[in-house]
Amino acid sequence: MTPRLDTPLTRHAGIEVPLLCGAMYPCSNPELVAAVSEAGGLGIVQPISLTYVHGHEFREGLRFIRRITPKPIGMNALIEASSRRYRERMERWVDVALEEGVRFFVTSLGNPRWVVERVHAVGGVVYHDVTERKWALKGRDAGVDGLIAVNRRAGGHAGPRDAAALFAELADLGVPVVCAGGIGDEHEFAEALRLGYAGAQLGTRFIATPECRASQAYKDAIVRAREDDIVFTERLSGIPVAVIRTPYIERLGLEAGPLARHLLRGRRTKHLVRTFYALRSVWELKRALLDEEKEYWQAGRSVEHIHAVEPAAEIVQRFAAEGSRHRGVE
Ligand SMILES: Cc1cc2nc3c(=O)[nH]c(=O)nc-3n(C[C@H](O)[C@H](O)[C@H](O)COP(=O)(O)O)c2cc1C
Repeated sequence: MTPRLDTPLTRHAGIEVPLLCGAMYPCSNPELVAAVSEAGGLGIVQPISLTYVHGHEFREGLRFIRRITPKPIGMNALIEASSRRYRERMERWVDVALEEGVRFFVTSLGNPRWVVERVHAVGGVVYHDVTERKWALKGRDAGVDGLIAVNRRAGGHAGPRDAAALFAELADLGVPVVCAGGIGDEHEFAEALRLGYAGAQLGTRFIATPECRASQAYKDAIVRAREDDIVFTERLSGIPVAVIRTPYIERLGLEAGPLARHLLRGRRTKHLVRTFYALRSVWELKRALLDEEKEYWQAGRSVEHIHAVEPAAEIVQRFAAEGSRHRGVE
């Protein structure tokens, strides 16, 4: 049995363990999202991963997850104002998710106000990904219910601060703060709770599970890698992304080319180049997820304490037990 561990996050999300399986493009397949929720945490759907990588029509994909678990799930809305078409599609996805009963949303980038308005109208909650106080203030002004504090050890796009400094920067804003980045084992999870976090969002740890559809080579690389093997490459999205250093990554180099750098600095060209990078990386990462030859593997520094491929439920239970032991509420 998974011990309960009550925090503001568990109350907001209606879950037993304050542990989110963060949205991961391309690694968030529906079976992984469902497994984390079924175990008492909260799996977050990444819509582009669900549809484009794993081949589900969006509503049907949510219903597929529902058939595996009746427990709550969340949805990630990347709301960077890039193009009107993208924004319209994201609005549709949020509406469909609400119709299908999703009540927990994680927003990243951009202004989350329109998501907050729609979600609050039906009694749901919105947590906003932030890396610094200035973004947190924007989120708070838009009415978000909680913050996800993405620190410098995170997989994906990491922030500039360590977990303790970021918590200190956000603690007085009057909303629960969730720790994202660098949590590979149950001791690091308990430490985040001790710092005052209301829970944790994990990415890399949940890739090394049987439920994740990433290739075995990718999972083995996470298990083998140490913290020093994580490097940041600009070649994927134009913004530094954490990846495992592999011969393939070394061949590509870590920096964007001189032309791309120049265009990324330009006021007019910046969005165009970002869109190009985003589309290309969406395609490249999809190929790399299942293809053992392409060693294009995103992972954060939490690899340091990930030593085995383990079922999602075992991870959730072990983290819950350690978290409860520290809180003395078992
Ligand atoms: C492979 C991978 C893909 C990710 N993709 C996304 C994404 O599409 N949207 C998002 O908001 N965060 C994304 N993230 C960030 C995670 O949701 C989470 O915040 C982060 O992985 C936490 O750090 P950890 O990997 O050290 O646990 C991604 C992370 C990884 C490792």
